Amino acid sequence: MVAFLTNFICTVLPIMYFCQDFVVGTKITYTNCGPPSILYVDMAPCDKLPCVFHKGTNATVTIAFNTTQKADAITAKVYGIVAGIPIPYPLPKSNGCEDCNLTCPLQGGQYKYVNQFPVLQDYPDIKIAVKWELVDQDQNPLVCFVFPMEIQG
Ligand SMILES: *[C@@H]1O[C@H](CO)[C@@H](O)[C@H](O)[C@H]1NC(C)=O
Ligand SMILES: *[C@@H]1O[C@H](CO)[C@@H](O)[C@H](O)[C@H]1NC(C)=O
Ligand SMILES: *[C@@H]1O[C@H](CO)[C@@H](O)[C@H](O)[C@H]1NC(C)=O
Repeated sequence: MVAFLTNFICTVLPIMYFCQDFVVGTKITYTNCGPPSILYVDMAPCDKLPCVFHKGTNATVTIAFNTTQKADAITAKVYGIVAGIPIPYPLPKSNGCEDCNLTCPLQGGQYKYVNQFPVLQDYPDIKIAVKWELVDQDQNPLVCFVFPMEIQG
């Protein structure tokens, strides 16, 4: 109901900045490419797949996951998959231990990783599969998923 109202308000009222405060993310369908650790992945904004991100806005990813691994360091690795080949994308905030709602070292348990990232003006208009991975200090994946995304001006 809350999500419906938010979608309604944000779709009908063309007041983007007003709506940003009310944006509720959407649990998305993804392909798991790592351990079976993910409880859900939530993207905001994302009404339907592919998630459409507009240049000059921020997008937020929330990954709820369980892990039994202890981890001293967490790094986000993001790739755009082009013709089957993952091309690394330099994420502005790749340190998952800073400002991502995780307290490192992780002791094992249930966590929610939250990262807000800018959709920059100089990104190309593109529709692409994105692979998002969280790895520990030994490059072991804690989380890995692929989802479809589109960048629009
Ligand atoms: C995006 O996030 C940055 C850093 O938190 C903030 O300075 C900026 O105002 C945000 N942009 C929009 C359009 O919300
Ligand atoms: C993952 O979290 C769920 C929900 O709290 C819990 O029931 C389950 O036991 C956890 N699984 C593992 C492997 O930690
Ligand atoms: C941050 O993580 C804690 C513990 O997993 C969780 O209860 C809380 O909801 C998370 N905060 C956000 C903004 O998701």
